[in-house]
Amino acid sequence: MNRREFIEKACMTGIGIVAGTSIINSLGIETLNASPRPGIFHGYREIPLVLADTPELQNVGGSYHLEIDEIDKNLLIVRTGDETFLAIDIKCTHKGCDLAYQDAAKMFVCPCHDSHFDLNGVPKSGPATKPVGTYKTTFKSGEVTVYIPVEGDAPNVAKDSTTAPKTDSTKQK
Ligand code: FES
Repeated sequence: MNRREFIEKACMTGIGIVAGTSIINSLGIETLNASPRPGIFHGYREIPLVLADTPELQNVGGSYHLEIDEIDKNLLIVRTGDETFLAIDIKCTHKGCDLAYQDAAKMFVCPCHDSHFDLNGVPKSGPATKPVGTYKTTFKSGEVTVYIPVEGDAPNVAKDSTTAPKTDSTKQK
């Protein structure tokens, strides 16, 4: 099983996974925050990548295509510094071609019709007019974590509406 297959399989099994390899320590752990509206939660899906097992990100300027089928995300992860990383949607907002990162220009470039996007995902030239999505990343102890916003029905809403909904703060530290 290669790394991509492992990540996809791990994503499919949801909350509570403790991966036995050094590629991923956990997947599918959602950090849930109490919502002002009962029955709805919002939070982040945390996607960890172990840097030592991701050769594409060993050097500054490297990039890695991360596919997360469970939540239908295709991201481009870029190492912009010794301890800094970017994560953006890989699909161009013009007609959906996969963007590539050009480190010399510090731009994301579309091979189909030559749209250019800056490091914030803002279109700077070419036919694309909408920005591409960007995601928060952190780096700690050799692991890059990408935070994907999620929302949906709250899983543990109390039946008594006077009781605050439970929050499942099973975030792994
Ligand atoms: S699909 Fe990217 S510029 Fe057309």
